[in-house]
Parts: sequence; structure tokens; C-alpha cells
Amino acid sequence: MGSKSALSFKILAECPVTKARTSLMTLPHGTIETPVFMPVGTQGSLKGLLPEQLEKLDCKLILGNTYHLGNRPGTDLMKKAGGLHNFMHWPHCLLTDSGGFQMVSLLELAEITEEGVKFKSPYDGSECMLTPEHSIQIQNTIGADIIMQLDDVVSSTTTGPRVKEAMERTIRWLDRCMAAHQFPEKQNLFPIVQGGLDPELRKECAKELIKRDTPGFAIGGLSGGESKDDFWRMVHISTDILPKIKPRYLMGVGFAEDLVVCCALGVDMYDCVFPTRTARFGCALTFTGQINLKQQKYSEDFSPIDPECNCSTCTNYTKAYLQKIVTHETVACHLLTVHNVRFQMRLMERIRSNIKNGTFVDFVKSFMLGIYPEKN
Ligand code: GUN
Ligand code: ZN
Repeated sequence: MGSKSALSFKILAECPVTKARTSLMTLPHGTIETPVFMPVGTQGSLKGLLPEQLEKLDCKLILGNTYHLGNRPGTDLMKKAGGLHNFMHWPHCLLTDSGGFQMVSLLELAEITEEGVKFKSPYDGSECMLTPEHSIQIQNTIGADIIMQLDDVVSSTTTGPRVKEAMERTIRWLDRCMAAHQFPEKQNLFPIVQGGLDPELRKECAKELIKRDTPGFAIGGLSGGESKDDFWRMVHISTDILPKIKPRYLMGVGFAEDLVVCCALGVDMYDCVFPTRTARFGCALTFTGQINLKQQKYSEDFSPIDPECNCSTCTNYTKAYLQKIVTHETVACHLLTVHNVRFQMRLMERIRSNIKNGTFVDFVKSFMLGIYPEKN
């Protein structure tokens, strides 16, 4: 491990057939078993869940939002609070994204220049500029264990010269981020592989990032409307080049099937709003697919969502009860969020234990049969 790093990554076992591996990743606020899924927090807390509930679900690494972007009282408050760990009462590991992707995907008005991402403040409508330096300064103040570079992200369906421009700018912005980073011994800055759906651009980008010798790497710009074939191929190309001894983080991916496939392709970390967002629409995740509890057919179903799930929702409540209350938002939303986060954790536990036991390939087969049963 380099001296300027706050991360150690010890591979415990590797699948002999696929690129899957399981490891212990030690960060300033604890040791995480990978592959790991990180639920996404908003405004310093996970929608519908408290930090102590997350702990009970066995979740020790979450994504904290780089919020109050460009909003000085925001960073001032964070400074006064002594960082986000303190502020949200979360003693475990945190990762923050750089903010640009959120600006571009949420605010139509964002405009990208070489200087940074220009956008209208969602607070007061004033013009703001998020530069690589500013993003790192905000993330240094928040104090997460892993922080992300500001990247130039184009939609995965974009083609033409813009894709190459964004990839090259992402590398230039990484250099600015690395120069601005004040605490490399306390916070790990991850770069992001971009390059759209072009294999050559992805390879070129990965090779450039590797030269910077960062503690880990992310793969971005995917899971935005491209085909599964393109998506998985870009992941495969990226993990073929990225060094095996460092963690790989696939951004914005969280469907169970994608997690299983991408673990086989050698990805170690994931985040996605999907499990918590879909819970708020009445949807529960299971090993036989998703079920929508708003459906009338559950009105007299007195079994839990998943009899094998050990979350407090499955231990205490039936589908019939959830069906009754699911239209009255808050409580049901909370109960389903607990289950869905626990489902993601259980899926990752199964992936890790099967890699350790040398049974990962059998697991992939039975997992796929669970969601796509053979018709006969
Ligand atoms: N979240 C999901 N995809 C991306 C990406 O490509 N870049 C960043 N910064 N965040 C993301
Ligand atoms: Zn459950």
C-alpha cells in the first residue's frame, strides 16, 4: 500500500472460473467485507431509516450525499458539526460522490465547461459553478472515508466526439482533484472510468487513471438506458485492465441480477437508490423477483414477504398487513425499506460466502433460476 492512502484491501478468496473475489477492505472508520452494496443516504440520513437501524441490518458503509453544494452555510455547518460522521451520528464508513453527476442528472439547467459544472442553485436560483477543486473542498469538509473525483458524465446513449471529450476531461479533472485533495492520508480519492460504450475509450481511460496510483477505482457512466450486453461488456473491459489488488466500484448499479453478474466480472462495490426508492412505491425485493404489495392478491396472504429473511419486517408482519397499510405511505414505506436494504445485504452475504466456499458458479446458476424459473 502506498504511504498516501487510507485504505487496505486484502483479497480472501477468488473464484477460479469467473473474476469474482471477496476481500476485507479497511477504511478509517472500519473494515468492510466486499463485494459490498452501499445504500444511498439523502440529506445525511437514509430515507425512512435511522443510522441505528442500518447498523442492525448489517450495513457498515453508506453513501452520504455531497449536499448543500456550492452553498456556503452548508459547508460551514458541516465544519461546525465536525464532519458528516458526527453530524448524522454514523460511526461507520461513508462514501461521498462528487456532486456533478447529480447536478447533471437532476438539474436540466447544468452546463459543463472545462472549468466545471455550471448550474442554477436549487436553493435560491443563483448561478453556481462546481469545479473539481470545489467538489474536493466540500468532500474534505464532509470527511467521508472514500471521496469521488468530479467527472464529466455523458448519458450512456450519447455517441460521437462528445464521449471522447468527456473521457479526456474526466482525466484532466482527476489531476485537479488530486492536487486539491488535502487529506490523502485520511480520505481515499477514487477516480472514475468513463468512455461511454466505446471499448477503446474505456481502455484508454482506465490506463490513464491507473498511472495516477489511486487507492481504488470507480466505473461510471453506465446503467442509464444502454442494453445489458453493452453495460456488462463495458464492466468486463474495465475490470480486465484495472489492477486486481485494488477495489473496483461500479456506480449507480443495484438490481440483484446486475450485482450477481458484475461480481462475476470482478466488481467489489456498488451503490443505488433503487432498493430504497422502490420500497416507497410498495415494491419488495425477493430471491424470486420483485413483488408489489399494492396488489389485491396479497390481501389474505398471511405469510411474510420472505420466510427466510431475518429482517424485523419479515419477522413481525404479513403480506396481508403490509398490503392493507401500503397505501398509507409512511409506516409501510419504512417497513419495506428495512426489508429491501436487508435483502441487498443478504444477497451480498450469499455472494461473499459462495466465493469463499468455492461455490460461486453454482450460486450464480441457482440465483438465475430463482428469478428466471425454467418453464416446463
Ligand atoms: N453515479 C452513477 N453513475 C455515476 C457516474 O458516472 N459518475 C458519478 N460521479 N456518479 C455516478
Ligand atoms: Zn425481510
